[in-house]
Amino acid sequence: MSAPQTPKGPNTRLVHAARRVKGMAKDLVNPPVERASTILFERAEDLYARRPEQRYYGRYGTATQSALCDAISDLEGAAGTVLAPSGLAACTLALSAVSKPGGHMLITDSVYGPTRNFCDQILTSRGLEIEYFDPRAGADLQSQIRDNTCAIFLESPGSLTLEINDLPAIAALAQARGIPTLVDNTWAAGWFLKPLEMGIDYSIQAATKYHTGHSDVLMGAVASRDKAGAELMHQYAFLNGNTVSPDDAYLTLRGMRTMGVRLAHQQQSALRIAQWLSGRDEVMRVLHPALPEHPDHELWKRDFTGASGLFSIVLNPVSPEKVHDFVNALSLFGIGFSWGGFESLVIHCDPQIKRTAGSWDAAGPLVRFSIGLEDADDLIADIEAALAVLK
Ligand SMILES: Cc1ncc(COP(=O)(O)O)c(C=O)c1O
Repeated sequence: MSAPQTPKGPNTRLVHAARRVKGMAKDLVNPPVERASTILFERAEDLYARRPEQRYYGRYGTATQSALCDAISDLEGAAGTVLAPSGLAACTLALSAVSKPGGHMLITDSVYGPTRNFCDQILTSRGLEIEYFDPRAGADLQSQIRDNTCAIFLESPGSLTLEINDLPAIAALAQARGIPTLVDNTWAAGWFLKPLEMGIDYSIQAATKYHTGHSDVLMGAVASRDKAGAELMHQYAFLNGNTVSPDDAYLTLRGMRTMGVRLAHQQQSALRIAQWLSGRDEVMRVLHPALPEHPDHELWKRDFTGASGLFSIVLNPVSPEKVHDFVNALSLFGIGFSWGGFESLVIHCDPQIKRTAGSWDAAGPLVRFSIGLEDADDLIADIEAALAVLK
């Protein structure tokens, strides 16, 4: 097969990105798993020569990890990508790399809970001051920027409550002051949102979710907008001994080939289910940015090219026991914390929501769905049957 000259469409790019690596057999479709701790050198003189093309230790990755980095860079439009052993590790690696002693960091209030715990427990112990801001602050964030602000961390949309950050507005204010911006871009998978094109410096993925797509691999990635950022992340990962297994990198790249078609199906089903839920008496609000009634719908329309399969609902007030009964009554949804896989999942979320910037009013219990590849009609019938327990 000769390589296509100019693959243009996003699915074509996903299918063809990083398919050939140095030295691989010509008749293989996929870059192979190269397992190595030791890398052998021809001669003693080569050991410390540090030639860019020379690999010298397995911790820095083999062609398998490099292929995944190249594919993610292609997807995100990045100058370079660093892998991390989980999505959380990618967030903490990037935050650590941009942190400065005595610095002040602005973090969106709807950030993933464990990222928040890292900021509150690790970064503060290193002398950083962490301040959370309303995810809907947009250009008003200006008033919270200080002379010592060393980073702004975003997550758009928030993975429980689905607020959208105004990335272009925040990137503009940060760039004017030389402050690095980072976004956890897992919801859109680098597929429906291109933060680096909007001036954000680092796009972070829990590739555990849509990239791998099969709920059996943990993987993280930090994609950098420019060479200097890519070098900073590489250096930080290198100095920390950060590494991922080639088997996991292989599975992630394999998953990425079908991410576009999976997301198309998941987008369509999730939207249909969200629309159906918005007509139900038991449901107070549906938190899905593609619905016109979502408070950030206009921002979503402006910045995103689609919506993934993760959204939440706020139920009309019922007891915690009733919420448990509802979740337990679902038969096609697994009860589990992750999302983005081929199978549908559900969690009730209130215990997970931690806020300090006053950006969430718990008007009723929150339930989050990750819509998989099942038929939407079956999922709707399942939810309808489970809603009956709330009566
Ligand atoms: C928004 C978001 N970011 C990061 C992560 C962390 O990913 P991982 O489970 O791979 O550490 C998650 C996991 O649920 C998440 O929802």
